[in-house]
Amino acid sequence: MCGIVGFVGTNKVKDVLLDGLKELEYRGYDSAGIAVLQGEQFSSYKAVGKLDNLVQKVADFKPKGFAIGIGHTRWATHGKPTELNAHPHLGTSSYVVHNGIIENYQEIKNQLTQDGVRFLSQTDTEVIVHLFEKHLAVEKTPFEAFEKTLSELEGAYAILLATKSMPDTIFFAKNGSPMIVGVNDENEKVFASSDAPLIGHAKDVLYLSDGDYGYVSPTELQLFNSDAKNIKPTFSPLPTSKLSAQKEGFRFFMEKEIYEQSDVISDALLGRIQDDGINFDELDPALFDGINEIKLCACGTSYHAALAASYLFERYAKVRASVEIASELRYKEPLLLKDTLFVVISQSGETADTLETLKMAKAAGLKTLVICNVDNSSMVRLADASVLTRAGIEKGVASTKAFATQMSVLWMLSLYVAQIRDTLTKKAMQKQLHALREVPNSVKINDALHEKIRRLSKRYLHGHGFFFIGRDVFFPLALEGALKLKEITYLHAEGYPSGEMKHGPIAMADPELFTIALMPKTLLYDKTKSNVEELSARDSTICAISPVTFDKADDFIQTKSHDHYMLEFFEMMVALQLLSMEISVRLGNDVDMPRNLAKSVTVE
Ligand code: M6R
Repeated sequence: MCGIVGFVGTNKVKDVLLDGLKELEYRGYDSAGIAVLQGEQFSSYKAVGKLDNLVQKVADFKPKGFAIGIGHTRWATHGKPTELNAHPHLGTSSYVVHNGIIENYQEIKNQLTQDGVRFLSQTDTEVIVHLFEKHLAVEKTPFEAFEKTLSELEGAYAILLATKSMPDTIFFAKNGSPMIVGVNDENEKVFASSDAPLIGHAKDVLYLSDGDYGYVSPTELQLFNSDAKNIKPTFSPLPTSKLSAQKEGFRFFMEKEIYEQSDVISDALLGRIQDDGINFDELDPALFDGINEIKLCACGTSYHAALAASYLFERYAKVRASVEIASELRYKEPLLLKDTLFVVISQSGETADTLETLKMAKAAGLKTLVICNVDNSSMVRLADASVLTRAGIEKGVASTKAFATQMSVLWMLSLYVAQIRDTLTKKAMQKQLHALREVPNSVKINDALHEKIRRLSKRYLHGHGFFFIGRDVFFPLALEGALKLKEITYLHAEGYPSGEMKHGPIAMADPELFTIALMPKTLLYDKTKSNVEELSARDSTICAISPVTFDKADDFIQTKSHDHYMLEFFEMMVALQLLSMEISVRLGNDVDMPRNLAKSVTVE
């Protein structure tokens, strides 16, 4: 996820921008840049990779006196992580930084190109600055040109724009991406995507709402709402702790990351869902030539994503899909055949066992693909092809948003392969695309659901164990629910296919055995229901998660009705994450850093 900073003030511009970008590093990025305007003179620097590369480039730049500046860390979406694609983007006499996605950028770009504008980057962002300058040529004031520009943009954005035509002013707009303005007693103004960069530079902050826009100068802060009404800004005091600021008001990073899922899934879908199919710019369809099997290999949560994906590949792409736990595959002397595409899934891209299996597959001459959250990680560098999941940095050791984006990417990938193999009708593909577009909504959390789970959690602090059960893709989700619970509550939990209960585990059923039953309405509801009834008849305490009320449950978490089981999957995933977290909180555990665990497991 990209990060934005901005500053209007005296002597500090370089430090505020660079320190601010440093604070935003946790959001994840692959290039960074700044632009500083002093009177008539713009100075701009960009660098690919770590922020240190940018810091080195600006070492000799020592602005003195009053200046305005904007800065950006970019997580590549439209176009590769290159210097040309890094922000800020230049028009003729203005620079812009932007987070989010301009959905109608192609339309605007076509028009501007016809008007003779030359584009330097592959980004959607560059259209903003050229559109602004087009309007600047005819509108009475730069602000009117900015307003006109905003009225033509569709999509999500946080924008900062600096222009020589008003050299003491930064124009800003927020719609769907975060943006905060801070002020201090020296009349300086600071912008950032989250609180942390503002600490030390601002006293009070204005949390902008969607649709807000305006401009700041040393003497003014003018704010307008989505109805173009000039409104009075309401400031609140800025938190003083950086750690709590990074958590953006949430108690734990894990909680923040659960709440972020809607946004990061939107990022994962960006540019990949098209009107009539799926597009992965980074993949060559030839990767799938001659492939008769997809072998998915991973550890932990990523293994659960692999297992769920295997159902989707067989169902939609009609290709044989097998799944391996990496630590097992390494030593089982596996049969690695050349008509198999070897897919590793890893949040970090560094997990030792998974990395080794990738090396094995390469040595055996298989084509390889990695689904990963970290660009330039060992796996991304090694595999023949890679698809990034775009979850941003995940700090909680218990993986949440990384899993959500893995599942989104894998679902899209199964449809991409279906497209290549022509295994879905147009109508069936449309149904999938429609459901995919709904995923960001399905993981939005309403207060009532969270509060219900928080209240329920007090009943699950003891007992002799948990069964998480489900069928089909809800079986890997049950495994994932059990793993989340184990990791952060230290309670014993197991995930099972619902139909397996009667083959042994049901012997454990009694009131102190808690069953968390995943009962989607749109997939095998009656079959799952029978399995849950068998447990209920043996007096297991049942917590059912379903859109359909179920009278044999002791507790019930009602999910929304959806017409696609994957939307139920995503909503239930959130309920399971919240349940584990709330139980962990009540038990007084360290939610973000559970005992005995490391975020990246780089040893065997
Ligand atoms: O970085 P990876 O996805 O390769 O990591 C694999 C597992 O170590 C990881 O998923 C682990 O199980 C998490 N703690 C789960 O929450």
